[in-house]
Amino acid sequence: MAASTGTRLQGKTAIVTGGAKGIGRHYSMALAAEGARVMVADIADGSAVAADIVASHGAGSAASFTFDVADESAVKALVAETVKQFGQIDILVNNAALYATLTPRNYDEWDIETWDKVMAINVRGPYLMVRHVAPHMKSRGAGKIINIASGAAYKGIPRMLPYVTSKGAMLAFTRSLSRELGAFGIGVNSLSPGYILSDTGLDNSTHVEEERIPVRNSRAFKRDGYPEDLLGALVFLASGDSDFVTGQSLVVDGGSVNN
Ligand SMILES: NC(=O)c1ccc[n+]([C@@H]2O[C@H](COP(=O)([O-])OP(=O)(O)OC[C@H]3O[C@@H](n4cnc5c(N)ncnc54)[C@H](O)[C@@H]3O)[C@@H](O)[C@H]2O)c1
Repeated sequence: MAASTGTRLQGKTAIVTGGAKGIGRHYSMALAAEGARVMVADIADGSAVAADIVASHGAGSAASFTFDVADESAVKALVAETVKQFGQIDILVNNAALYATLTPRNYDEWDIETWDKVMAINVRGPYLMVRHVAPHMKSRGAGKIINIASGAAYKGIPRMLPYVTSKGAMLAFTRSLSRELGAFGIGVNSLSPGYILSDTGLDNSTHVEEERIPVRNSRAFKRDGYPEDLLGALVFLASGDSDFVTGQSLVVDGGSVNN
């Protein structure tokens, strides 16, 4: 499925955390294809993604910033740089997380250091982003925050306990935050992908072995999911098409979770 191109995000600026690799790279490209200027923010180098966007959409359409989402001073620096380069922030995609590099294991096999790291990146990180981005949205009376959760939190998949717990937190974070930011015209929703064959996910053979076939069989649409399958929902939540939608979680998984 090809990503759509259009003008639904013309004049908007988006930050995509974890935007350099995996699914986040596709989010960065999709927002740019709808006209947004994109800050590709990642602990990995996002300059190649930003360069690709600039090659397709022109000078000033993207930039990259290397940072650790769990580090408040780094988050502050990212937000300041985005405002300096683009003047505003309209869309925040809280996508950075520890996922593909985590190897599944039983509940009593996780070391505490890994547990804390997952919580720092997957839960504290999105909070820090909101804390420093929301003031810019508030001052303009508008904004879209999209928290990437997971179908895994609905299903309670085994052998990824800290990860699934962190994604459950994203669902509650979204609901609660939407009530606090609604008064300022800021929409807060979450997008919950099912198991997606991202390039980074495919690098971890244990995920592929444990998830690919069982998840495919559990779906109403019995096929694999790809990053491209998420882009319509992402652009919907980032655009004016979702202006009366807030506090919701949109599950995009081919019908595996059945709410
Ligand atoms: N692939 C799937 O099946 C799937 C399913 C449901 C939800 N998700 C969620 O989608 C998002 C992307 O997943 P993915 O498959 O691309 O996996 P991924 O693990 O490759 O993506 C994480 C991205 O975050 C970045 N990142 C990691 N630690 C960071 C840090 N401390 N600071 C800043 N950036 C950091 C990584 O460099 C990477 O670009 C994640 O939130 C993941 O939980 C993925």
